[in-house]
Amino acid sequence: MTSNADPGPSHEELVEARRASGVAMFNDNRMKLGVFGANCSHGLMATHAETSYELSWKHTRQIARLADRLGFEAMLPVARYRGMGGGTNFNGENFETHTWAAGLAQATENIMVFSTTHVPTKHPIVAAKESVTVDHISDGRFGLNMTMGWHKAEMEMFGGTQREHDARYRYGTEWITIAKRMWTENEGFTFAGEFFEVKDARSDPKPIQKPYPVLVNAGNSPAGLEFCARECDFNFIAFADPAEAAQTAARVRSIARTHQRDLGILGYGNVISRDTEKETKQVLDHILAKGDWEVARMVSGGLSSESGSFDSINAMQERFILGYGGYPLIGTPEQVVERLVGLSEAGVDGMMIGFLDYVEELGYFGERILPLMKEAGLRA
Ligand SMILES: Cc1cc2nc3c(=O)[nH]c(=O)nc-3n(C[C@H](O)[C@H](O)[C@H](O)COP(=O)(O)O)c2cc1C
Repeated sequence: MTSNADPGPSHEELVEARRASGVAMFNDNRMKLGVFGANCSHGLMATHAETSYELSWKHTRQIARLADRLGFEAMLPVARYRGMGGGTNFNGENFETHTWAAGLAQATENIMVFSTTHVPTKHPIVAAKESVTVDHISDGRFGLNMTMGWHKAEMEMFGGTQREHDARYRYGTEWITIAKRMWTENEGFTFAGEFFEVKDARSDPKPIQKPYPVLVNAGNSPAGLEFCARECDFNFIAFADPAEAAQTAARVRSIARTHQRDLGILGYGNVISRDTEKETKQVLDHILAKGDWEVARMVSGGLSSESGSFDSINAMQERFILGYGGYPLIGTPEQVVERLVGLSEAGVDGMMIGFLDYVEELGYFGERILPLMKEAGLRA
């Protein structure tokens, strides 16, 4: 067949297939939970504050197993090939994310294991094949978060120059079209586009998860929102507060409706929680006092010039230190749950979260915060 067409399933068919596959990201919990960033040094927090968190496999596995036991829906990595500089060389140690997901697939039972992939760094045939392999290792628990690549120095490691912004999404569209066809078509197909030529491409076995792995993207620009609305299950958004989250969520969903689709909304941020406000503030102050302000300054400048979505956090270097510019879930367990309720009311379906000390603080999250989330009706 010589066509680029990919009519694909309707939105209703897609959701039905996802639910029938039993994927955690499509369960009934009103606020899904994922562990974010536990594949890079310093995770989501640019600070020298003391932590037991380290980038070793033993430690990573411990985090994933703990999150799995607590019933979290996802382990979601950051796609990173180089550190961002500053005194911490933030994220300078980083695990490749398909192989990371494969290891965690074997180490866990129910939680979904994601790869976060810069699409310009991998041919879609290779990525589709790797994804199927991890989907089989995990018995249908694999998910793919696609990023177009904003970090110029990182993309230039691969040679060539960075594409202009909207071309990155045209590239991404061809990339995911080819991957989806690999996952779903039984005959060989030929594709000829602006960026790819693929001849008699075929792939077996098919994913266990039907019709293909859950897809996520953090496009927030007009081109990114369009891409996500057409191609993905979840839009991963950045926001400063629940009001902005509500606005963005409504915008994302209205764009999706123009494609007869709906999208789930994910947010992200770090959790800092202790029994009292006073203790929480002490920890917060310590993290900021030991913060890597140098990298915060550099990155907030870089993000604003290379990506459309970080304008609102540009001035907020503190937020960068505390959680990559994400929404801070800081306070007593009651206050954290109040914030989560606010986000749920704003239309956010899940939060991908990090901690200064993943193992220790996930334990606390399980003991103190999860029961309150259940009481609030956010989780079963
Ligand atoms: C929640 C979130 C997570 C992201 N994770 C990554 C990542 O892991 N690696 C990466 O290179 N970029 C990451 N980005 C940046 C996005 O890929 C993208 O460049 C950014 O959202 C800008 O999209 P836009 O150009 O459509 O506005 C992330 C962005 C957001 C909002």
